[in-house]
Amino acid sequence: MQTFAAFRPPVRLLMGPGPSNVAPSVLEAMARPLVGHLDPAFVGMMEENKTMLRQVFLTKNEMTFPVSGTGSAGMEFCCVNLIEPGDEVVIGVNGVFGARMVEVAERCGAKVTTVNAAWGRIIEPQQIADALETVSKPKLVAVVHAETSTGALTPVVEISKQAHDAGALFLLDAVTSLGGCPVRIDDWEVDAVYSGTQKCLSCPPGLAPVSLSPRAFEVATKRKTRVQSWYLDVNLLASYWGQERVYHHTAPVSMNYGLHEALRLVFEEGLENRWRRHEQNHHALASGLKAMGLQIASQEGHQLWQLNAVTVPDGVNEAAVRKRLLSDFNIEIGSGFGPLKGQIWRVGLMGETSNKANVKAFLCALAQILSDSGRKTDVEAALSAVG
Ligand SMILES: Cc1ncc(COP(=O)(O)O)c(C=O)c1O
Repeated sequence: MQTFAAFRPPVRLLMGPGPSNVAPSVLEAMARPLVGHLDPAFVGMMEENKTMLRQVFLTKNEMTFPVSGTGSAGMEFCCVNLIEPGDEVVIGVNGVFGARMVEVAERCGAKVTTVNAAWGRIIEPQQIADALETVSKPKLVAVVHAETSTGALTPVVEISKQAHDAGALFLLDAVTSLGGCPVRIDDWEVDAVYSGTQKCLSCPPGLAPVSLSPRAFEVATKRKTRVQSWYLDVNLLASYWGQERVYHHTAPVSMNYGLHEALRLVFEEGLENRWRRHEQNHHALASGLKAMGLQIASQEGHQLWQLNAVTVPDGVNEAAVRKRLLSDFNIEIGSGFGPLKGQIWRVGLMGETSNKANVKAFLCALAQILSDSGRKTDVEAALSAVG
């Protein structure tokens, strides 16, 4: 029989589109002794996770908890609970994750109207308004706040208002935005939101924080048809995450320990301080890149702080640079998808990863690789631009 050595992963600097680096205390928390998922000690911790998630989403929504699964499970949770076959849904598509939402909504039986923008650009409120004119009874309007595939941040206040004026619910993907820039669920009147743990919350992947407004929860509880997913049915999950604690599925106990510690660290730092740190390190990176003659590809004025889409200079092999960053410098970054394949590098500065030392380490490594390939690169100028 074949035997295997214990898996010892390399230590990487995770500067891709997620997961981001995780604080040692989060990993320590996940290694603590297991308890049962209905143990009173665990149940007490679940309550604290719900409270901290409300604080990070800036919401009073009772129905706020971490779905067991990654960000895509959060997307499915919102769609399966709010959409019934035949419902009309309007979805903004300016990258991979808007397109994924269309697919998920269609699998729920929705009649989807897509609102398209070029990858790297935002969804404009007027585009949503125009689409709503063409739909007779919209049930849901959905957009991706921070499009991780392109590095663009779509402002959502106006879009939320348009959705409500048209009698629809407003659904927001906050997978990459939560914890890294303002996300104000109650102020922005978002009815349903989902996120993921592995981006700006700096926890390993595995949970999808979600929140439903009372209005959205009512829609889910008063459906004419049964939610087609047993696992993600909020009517069942509410009895587990609510006061009754009725067994539904075995919650991923250690993941919830990790989330507890990750959220605790968010509030130790201060939510607004954390947003500011992401903003400052994005500007430091952008200045350093500019000094090296490189540019951010996404729409001016709407560039994400936590995910920087960097235009690959002409004549440079995108994949070869990424490969060398990993093999020689232990730095992971991401590639572009779809129309941006080969055109951009995606450089994440999310959560723990977002600090000036990492910005400098990345710029030095990139400068070295570009210089080795014969492209003159002024690393001194880049470092002094970072400050
Ligand atoms: C904006 C956005 N939405 C949804 C997802 C899907 O999340 P996951 O890969 O955790 O399932 C991602 C993942 O990168 C994302 O960036």
